[in-house]
Amino acid sequence: MVRPTYFDVEYSINPWMNPKKPTFTELAVTQWEWLRDLFVDLGHRVELLDPRPGLPDMVFAANGATVVDGRVLVARFRNWQRAAEAQAYLDWFPAHGYPEVRQAQWVNEGEGDYLVAGERILAGTGFRTAPNAHQESQDYFGRPVVGLTLVDPRYYHLDTALAVLDADTVMFYPAAFSPESLELLDELYPDAIHATDADAAEFGLNAVSDGKHVVLPQSATGLIGRLRERGFEPIGVDMAELLKAGGSVKCCTLELRA
Ligand code: ARG
Repeated sequence: MVRPTYFDVEYSINPWMNPKKPTFTELAVTQWEWLRDLFVDLGHRVELLDPRPGLPDMVFAANGATVVDGRVLVARFRNWQRAAEAQAYLDWFPAHGYPEVRQAQWVNEGEGDYLVAGERILAGTGFRTAPNAHQESQDYFGRPVVGLTLVDPRYYHLDTALAVLDADTVMFYPAAFSPESLELLDELYPDAIHATDADAAEFGLNAVSDGKHVVLPQSATGLIGRLRERGFEPIGVDMAELLKAGGSVKCCTLELRA
């Protein structure tokens, strides 16, 4: 995770970002600290990467890389405003016991668009990660990569439209996907939880699950109920300040898969 020390909305690279709207960095830090402490309480070890000045979106650690079986594929950002974030990950991983680190050749925004679901990797494209990046990731990780096309600019990363709950269960927002991708999702996950427009707009799908506890924005009340019905333990958190930049729980969390 990356503390939002320099968090701000200074530019707009997704429909949620309005640089004219005031942001409160201290509030973002408080919300982020709550999330970090919650992960620790749930028994996770949280590693911190130092924020760098001039990179106001750096709190969204999920975008920095993808880590599978201890192998690290560092992002190549779509927008120049975030491009320099990649160097922080290229520096951090080799210094913290990850010898296999490479920067992606194709535009690839890390776990924003790559979600590990059991043996497979679900991969988003349409707005950020390039379609060619999917083949590169499949070759690098040696896992089947399933491409999914996003069509609604509000849900520009896969992790804003779909969350992996356990190896065989996902929840997603159907309207965010192309008809072909939706058909594929229905085939792969006939029991998926479908999010309403309202829950999707609260970034309810930007969630982190350990297979039991599902941490998600507290305002996604419909999904919280659905998750409970399905035997998960949803835990709502307030990430309203970070949502001003188009991010929430999952965006702030890069999972280090050994
Ligand atoms: N402002 C950031 C951007 O548009 C938000 C990134 C959110 N991260 C995510 N994993 N969806 O790039």
